[in-house]
Amino acid sequence: MATSEVGTVDPTADNKENYCETQDCNKPAKLQCPTCLKQGIKGSYFCSQDCFKGSWKVHKAIHKQKDTTGAKYNPWPHFQFTGPLRPFPKVSHYYISTSYWYIYTQTPTRTVPAHIGRPDYADTGIPITEQLARQSCSIKVLSADEIAKMRTVCRLAREVLDEAGKAIKPGVTADEIDRIVHEASVERDCYPSPLNYYKFPKSCCVSVNEVICHGIPDTRPLEDGDICNVDVTVMYDGHHGDLNETFFVGKVSESRKHLVKTAYECMMKGIEIVKPGVRYREIGQAIQQHAQHHGCSVVRTYCGHGIHQLFHTAPNVPHYAKNKAIGVMKPGNTFTIEPMISQGTWKDVTWPDNWTAVTEDGKDSAQFEQTLLVTETGCDILTLRPEHDGKPHFMTQ
Ligand code: MF3
Ligand code: CO
Ligand code: CO
Repeated sequence: MATSEVGTVDPTADNKENYCETQDCNKPAKLQCPTCLKQGIKGSYFCSQDCFKGSWKVHKAIHKQKDTTGAKYNPWPHFQFTGPLRPFPKVSHYYISTSYWYIYTQTPTRTVPAHIGRPDYADTGIPITEQLARQSCSIKVLSADEIAKMRTVCRLAREVLDEAGKAIKPGVTADEIDRIVHEASVERDCYPSPLNYYKFPKSCCVSVNEVICHGIPDTRPLEDGDICNVDVTVMYDGHHGDLNETFFVGKVSESRKHLVKTAYECMMKGIEIVKPGVRYREIGQAIQQHAQHHGCSVVRTYCGHGIHQLFHTAPNVPHYAKNKAIGVMKPGNTFTIEPMISQGTWKDVTWPDNWTAVTEDGKDSAQFEQTLLVTETGCDILTLRPEHDGKPHFMTQ
């Protein structure tokens, strides 16, 4: 087959999210491979004749492939997936080779306009102030001015999550949710804190079904019956606000509803005990008791955290019982409670992308998170939803 001609993009196809498949190109696609079109192979997008010709040696292997569904293709041949979920390619012929496949599961990095304040890791990927603070494990007591800034950023983070929530329905991709989060953050002059945090490539985390947390938004369309967590953190005026909710996608099974409801209740059980004098290690007891009572388990690897000028700092807040967390709550402390609650085992496994945390048994996991301020008498939920008495979206959907 000669490479002299490339077909134009099929105008009837949904091609607004397609990019050139040439390695490291990532420009928007203008052309499709005519052989692929003839064979009914979806994808095969290129930005130009030059890229098409340049990719030909690798690309032509697709035409010999019989299976164009690729539904169960394993992109990381040495990694055993724990459940049915797979990272999703932006082109459909994801059965060529490991590296080729992986590169195209994500869309290009988004940028933040220069007038928006940036955290120290925005360019390097290394949160140096956070690392320096590790040496002392003291828990910051915020000044009135810092508390006012936390109230503001947490309100903005909530607005951003609610914007993402409106978009969630079957067929919408996690990448689209990430775009909405990114743009809603920028509209509010906020930096989306996950972007380049330890090189995290996207502006929020989207974690579906058996993904516990830190799912990297990719081009997999949400399916009817999925549960989908969106975790938003933004930085404004030098302070971070962090929250997440698990959403229902279309019509969800009763067992998934039970899991999501239990995860929400677990977070609330933790929040209820927050007041000055309580030890941070007590939160896990309240959460695990409730999870166990409802037949669920508590993830141990990921914890709540102090948050203010730093994204993640002291205190460390485990969500499981009998933990050895350090510190006593004082008015002016700000931190998150964000239990991850699983249907089966509490154990987690990380995908070879070094971020996506999934359950070891492939069963589902759900999470909720709020940023809290310890007050004289209890706590304020700084990221509380302003409507519906603060109820989460899954209760009002
Ligand atoms: N928002 C998450 C949390 O609750 C952290 C995400 S870090 C990232 O702590 F790099 F994955 F974005
Ligand atoms: Co958090
Ligand atoms: Co978060």
